[in-house]
Amino acid sequence: MTVTIVGAQLGDEGKGGVVDLYGDAADVVARYQGGDNAGHTVVYDDEEYKLSLVPSGAVRGKIGVLGNGCVVNPETLFDELDQLRERGLEPDVRVAARAHAILPYHRVIDGIEEDQKADLAAGTTGRGIGPAYEDKAGRRGIRIGDLTEPDVLRQRLEYVVPQKRALVTEVFGAAIPTEHADAFDVDALFEQYRRYGERLADEDMVVDSGTFLQQRVDADENVLLEGAQGTSIDIDHGIYPYVTSSNPTAGGATIGTGLGPTVVGQGEVIGIVKAYLSRVGTGPLPTELGGVEGQTPGYDSEGVDEDAPEERLATYIRDEGGEYGTVTGRPRRVGWLDVPMLRHAARASGFTGLAVNHIDVLAGLEEVKVGHSYEFDGEAVETVPPTTEQWGRCEATYRSFDGWPEVDWSAVAESGYEAIPENARSYLEYLSAELDTPIYAIGVGPGREETVILESPYDD
Ligand code: IMP
Repeated sequence: MTVTIVGAQLGDEGKGGVVDLYGDAADVVARYQGGDNAGHTVVYDDEEYKLSLVPSGAVRGKIGVLGNGCVVNPETLFDELDQLRERGLEPDVRVAARAHAILPYHRVIDGIEEDQKADLAAGTTGRGIGPAYEDKAGRRGIRIGDLTEPDVLRQRLEYVVPQKRALVTEVFGAAIPTEHADAFDVDALFEQYRRYGERLADEDMVVDSGTFLQQRVDADENVLLEGAQGTSIDIDHGIYPYVTSSNPTAGGATIGTGLGPTVVGQGEVIGIVKAYLSRVGTGPLPTELGGVEGQTPGYDSEGVDEDAPEERLATYIRDEGGEYGTVTGRPRRVGWLDVPMLRHAARASGFTGLAVNHIDVLAGLEEVKVGHSYEFDGEAVETVPPTTEQWGRCEATYRSFDGWPEVDWSAVAESGYEAIPENARSYLEYLSAELDTPIYAIGVGPGREETVILESPYDD
């Protein structure tokens, strides 16, 4: 069977920990979208592993697959694999022949375009994700399978590289940065990517992901499908254009692996929720507390009183939750839980279960709020309106919960659900009722042992 893990908010919900937890019972962990823009932190045996491309399950000796829906930067892939090996692990990672490769020009163009977009910039991770997916849709991309066929690789590069040079110089009116000259040079790219192709072939890493995964399902193995990013930055269901260029929602799990929708639909789809909100990037965020210069629209830190209650609350949550980007180190915007956003996510992916993370981060606050609904153009609405401009006009209507105390969360994790402070349980039960979805797991700390497990998604 399959278990699909989907971020219910804006990414950074703590999916890595849940994937790691459920990964124990999985035989294969496959990613279905995104690339090295994802930041997954896995804590295991007091060791912290920060991964951006390699599926988290690789830390635990599972087969990792990068599905056809991913965009793969081979340099990052091999760097991460080499680092894991240096730390004594033996990661077994396969890459779909149909996945698209990120080339150095994608990263350069990502940076140039973000600079030019000004207010429309998404605040990307600069990893070339958008430009790589553009080339995929424009039928000028280079796929992983092409890297192992030198003639095909050269033909593709000869077609596409002059276009990239022209894009930079003629469309964006920029010069090719001298330090990135090789990123726009057919011969240099050919040599670099041909070598990647050789290494992929030598290590027997290239697979047809749909066939590979279906064989596992047919053999009654457990396949975990690991979504990166989150629903509200999904290119179709998110706050366009402040989104990533792929589908983190559960539909992406079928397109991005080659498993049929009926196969994925027979399994479980777990929505990962963080008990508050965080966001790296721009666009509206109705339940935001305080702001982050350069990301919160119209926020200017000059005139801000850092001691104002809302600012202090934002700083408290940001520091307690370590809300600084895993990949970029940028401070994240933070806010109260946004329930309309979660209703939208639950519907778009059809969640069968929830994992709620980081309730420990909110411990010690007198009051915990949630945005229960929005007031939108004078009307109360319970879900996210379809355009981002409409979403920007929504004002959150809050519900208030009594806070819960700081406790020994490791002891709570050992004892189980009833040991969670009562007010936190009320918060969780409210959430489960609003989303009409049972809670399967509750994260009460960063380690995977610090999880209260209520239900396993796998068949017994
Ligand atoms: P890109 O994916 O680098 O193109 O960035 C597009 C948008 O998605 C930006 O707002 C990023 O901050 C956001 N984003 C991309 N990856 C992640 C992630 O793993 N967590 C949170 N936000 C992300």
